[in-house]
Amino acid sequence: MEIRNINQNDLEDLFEWRNNYESRKQFFKKNKITLKEHQKWFEESIKNPNKEFFIGELSGIKLGVCRFDFLEKENYSEVSININPTERGKGYGKQLLNYALNIYLSKKKRILIAKIKEDNIPSIKIFTSLGFLLTRKVEGVIHMEFTEKLIFKKVEIEDSLTLYDLLKKRNYNISHEVLPDFKSHKQFVENNPYLYWYIFSLNEKAMGTFYIKNDNSIGINTNEPTKEIINEILDFILDNFTPRKGIPSEIPNYFFINVSQNNNLLKDIVSSIGYMPIQVSYKLIRS
Ligand SMILES: CC(C)(COP(=O)(O)OP(=O)(O)OC[C@H]1O[C@@H](n2cnc3c(N)ncnc32)[C@H](O)[C@@H]1OP(=O)(O)O)[C@@H](O)C(=O)NCCC(=O)NCCS
Repeated sequence: MEIRNINQNDLEDLFEWRNNYESRKQFFKKNKITLKEHQKWFEESIKNPNKEFFIGELSGIKLGVCRFDFLEKENYSEVSININPTERGKGYGKQLLNYALNIYLSKKKRILIAKIKEDNIPSIKIFTSLGFLLTRKVEGVIHMEFTEKLIFKKVEIEDSLTLYDLLKKRNYNISHEVLPDFKSHKQFVENNPYLYWYIFSLNEKAMGTFYIKNDNSIGINTNEPTKEIINEILDFILDNFTPRKGIPSEIPNYFFINVSQNNNLLKDIVSSIGYMPIQVSYKLIRS
């Protein structure tokens, strides 16, 4: 499926899809609208910076539209989808929503709310499968919310492959420059040298790992650090773990984060959260 922003050529398709009987049954304004009303709405919507529409297409066929409506006062975006009536029942709804969510959220960090009639089982299934959670039900309408929250999972031997994939993609390394083979990697996971070692995922996608060592040092490995993600990881650590008792000249009595010298993005993020750098480490080998 290809996905793109809406344009003038979509006016009539959206009009047809909007007036389709099944669509109207699921919408809150059930009446048919006239082409003139639609044109007015379309022109206004396309110019409105708080509205964004994505059209999914496959081999020249328009599959449906996914719409995000940012409500400034409420500070969330309402999401809805409408699949081309001839293309319903083929699984496109989930694909379109998934693509559209990824594009929308990569540009804007927003809370997303979907308001769905309780008898609209396919729609509820689609939103649920992509991580929307039921928050309330008001007069037969279900409110589902999507917030980007990380899921933390203790590393186990079964995670070796996921960890290896992450390791292959890793941009910055402190301890090794050459990728170990899978067998050595698996051995490493089995021997787990860390005090705590976690994988974190976002919307079911493994995003990276963090570990805490005996000396209270923390390592965070992810190729996609954002302030929100790093903040969430550090909050998780501070909420769930206590630093080991310090040993003078050996272990400080606080957690500290090791960041690869070249990883300027992570350094900037950690500093912007308000944590202070304490030292720089130099590798001492004869040249
Ligand atoms: C609701 C809508 C978006 C669903 O999209 P779709 O691509 O046609 O969805 P699908 O038919 O592939 O079904 C999605 C899921 O619901 C399941 N499903 C479909 N009809 C079902 C039913 N009657 N009972 C139980 N499950 C059903 C499908 O099996 C599928 O589940 P799966 O992903 O586990 O296989 C689409 O029909 C539509 O645009 N309807 C009109 C507008 C609308 O209701 N929009 C939603 C408001 S936000």
